[in-house]
Formats: sequence, C-alpha cells, structure tokens
Amino acid sequence: PRLAFVLGTRPEIIKLSPLVRACLERAIPHVVVHTGQHYSESLDAVFFEQLELPTPTYDLGVGSDDHGEQTATMIRGIESVLEAERPAHVVVQGDTNSALAGAIAASKRDPSLAHVEAGLRSFDREMPEEINRVLVDHAADHCFAPTEESARLLAAEGIDGDRVRVTGNTIVDAVSQHRDLATEKSDVLAEHDLEPGAFYLLTAHRAENVDDPERFAGILEGVGAFATRTDREVVYPIHPRARETLAAFELSVPEPIRLVDPLDFLDFLTLERHARLAVTDSGGVQEEACILGTPCVTVRDSTERPETVDIGANRLVGTEPSAIVAGAEAMVDRPGTWSNPFGDGDAADRILDALL
Ligand code: UD1
Ligand code: UDP
Repeated sequence: PRLAFVLGTRPEIIKLSPLVRACLERAIPHVVVHTGQHYSESLDAVFFEQLELPTPTYDLGVGSDDHGEQTATMIRGIESVLEAERPAHVVVQGDTNSALAGAIAASKRDPSLAHVEAGLRSFDREMPEEINRVLVDHAADHCFAPTEESARLLAAEGIDGDRVRVTGNTIVDAVSQHRDLATEKSDVLAEHDLEPGAFYLLTAHRAENVDDPERFAGILEGVGAFATRTDREVVYPIHPRARETLAAFELSVPEPIRLVDPLDFLDFLTLERHARLAVTDSGGVQEEACILGTPCVTVRDSTERPETVDIGANRLVGTEPSAIVAGAEAMVDRPGTWSNPFGDGDAADRILDALL
C-alpha cells in the first residue's frame, strides 16, 4: 500500500475519516491500523459506521493501560504491520499515545512519517498530549499544519520549512461533510427535549481536569451555577474516564447538568450547533464550536488552539467556579460571526496531493 493510517481514539477516527474516504474515492491503496486505544462502542465502532469507514485492516486491541506499557505494546504491533505491509507513508494525527506509537514505529523503519495537525502547542509540558505532539512533529518527514500560526511554531523549533505545509485542519472537512446530514438525520434535540439555542453543552475528559477532584468539582460547580443563574439546562455527554472518576471521587452533579452517554458524531454536531454555549476541555470541541459559530468557554489553563481565542470565539477560563461563570457570561450572547481560521474543508485532498 501507499499509505498506512495509524489511529486509536475517537478524535483520530473523526479527523482521519476525510483522508481515508478520499483514498477510497481515488483508489489509493492503503491500510488502516487501529491500535485499540479506544474500544468502547460509543468511542469507536459508532464512528466507523457513521463516517462510512471500512473495518480497520488491523486491530491491535491494545486497550487501556499505563502510558509506557500501552505505548510499547502499540509500537510492537505497528512495527509488525509495517514489516508485513511495507507502506510508503505512515500517517498519524494529533497528539495521542496512538499517534506517538505510530511515529516511533515509522521513524525507525523505511516509510516516511506524515503528521496531520502538526505544530499545535499548549506550552504546558505537564500534559501528556504536549509531549506527544512535540515528539511526533520532530520525528515527522511531513508536518501538515492546520494554520500559519502552527507552521510558525514549527519553524520556531527549528523544523525545516521543507517539511512543513499549511493545509487547514481536516476537522473542517469532516464538519462540512456531515453538517447537513446531521440536520437531516439527528433527532437528538427531540430525544432529549431540548430547544435550539436554549441549552448549554459541556464536555470534560482531560486527565488534568477529571483525574483531579478539585478541578473536576470546580468545573461542575461553575457550570452548574451559571446554568442555574440563567435558568438553562446543560447536557454533558460524559467520556468513560470522567464517568469513572466522578464516581470514585463521589462528586455531586449540580441539578441543571444532565449526564448522557457519549454521542455519535451527527448527534454531537447537532448539539454543538444548537447549544447557546459550549463549555469544554476538548481540543476538537474548541475547533468545532468555532467552525459552527457557537461561542466556547475552555476550562483549561492553556490552549493549543489560540486562533479561536484571538478571533473572539473562545475564552480560556481555568477551572475556578467564579472564573467559569464570568467567562460564560462574557461569551454566551456573542454572535458567532467570526470566520473559521481552520481552513476551507479541502485539507484531506491537499495532504494526499502533497504525499502522492
Ligand atoms: C485519550 C488521549 C487524549 C484524547 C482522548 C480523546 C492520550 C494520552 N490521551 O484520552 O489526548 O483527548 O483520548 O477522547 O492518548 N476508557 C473506556 N473505554 C475506551 C477507552 C477508554 O472506558 O474505549 C476508559 C478507561 O478507563 C481508560 C480511560 O478511559 O483507562 C482513559 O483512556 P485513555 O485512552 O488512556 O485516555 P483518554 O482519556 O481516552
Ligand atoms: N464527540 C462526539 N461525541 C461526543 C463527544 C465528542 O462525537 O459525545 C466528537 C467531537 O465532535 C469531536 C471529537 O469527538 O470531533 C473530540 O474528541 P475528544 O473530545 O474525545 O478529544 P480531543 O479533541 O480533546 O482530543
């Protein structure tokens, strides 16, 4: 095959889907290697089905573990696949342990390594994702940066300009390919008895937030207080990591916050589009809210998506309840008239053209 895609988590499946589909349309020989980092139906299989992706060629079934053990098992499995398949290029996306494993396995062997969504930096070296991004970018032969800002950050680290290309983010491709389908097919508003523009959307799953009882409680308290004050409901599709720690820490969920299971892409896009405000610690949700014109409040101390803050689509507030309330008040009535900084929805074609 020309290409081997290595992926393992929900956001990688979503953001690589436009590339895999473009390979199918253009009859480009490729294999998909799923590490198995995400395996619950609602984080994994649901997206293959809805995004019309074939079953992965390989599923390494690695599952959850400590970072070192998990990454090592992935590297071993990916190396065997590379040995058997001998692709020309290995393509990884983003900043997960699956991306890191793909990068290490590829860079020790013949194929060139392509990093989709290169050059993002939070400058918070406590985040496992930040270390992963830096390592993958420095190993990559092709860094596909979503914005000029990301390309500038790569240059500042001494990465040769010949390795860098600004393509836009493939999330714009994925959103534009599914936005209308979501309107047509999703019943999520009716199912949950929600009125467009009259509810808030919450997602929180980052280790630095939900594995820390004080920070997790701060998020719930701040969002709950703002919802109570403005008399609106909050929908929180809860990631399994957060579901587990919520129970382990015995945190109480304020009355206006409704926990629901993780949603499929069309239902989630529909909620994002019609929410009055998104409150999140997710990378992808900061981008999608910006693309869909929904104001966003990010419950983190740093962001690797500063473009969203610069254009007034997003505000970084941390996890103190009073700061969350103040940020939400400042953002909630903001009209979503900014223009999306992440490209025109043709990132996948640009990336394939550059590689092939
Ligand atoms: C991972 C990524 C994170 C990304 C997120 C996307 C790393 C270091 N982290 O975090 O950057 O934002 O995916 O959602 O790669 N679990 C399940 N079912 C699953 C997967 C996980 O129940 O299918 C639970 C397990 O208890 C597991 C925990 O979630 O221990 C964490 O999973 P893990 O893959 O380690 O990290 P994420 O938090 O999902
Ligand atoms: N998402 C989804 N259902 C949900 C929550 C998120 O389909 O219930 C999608 C969302 O549209 C986005 C991606 O998952 O494209 C974001 O993934 P996540 O927040 O897990 O990871 P991150 O982007 O922070 O790495």
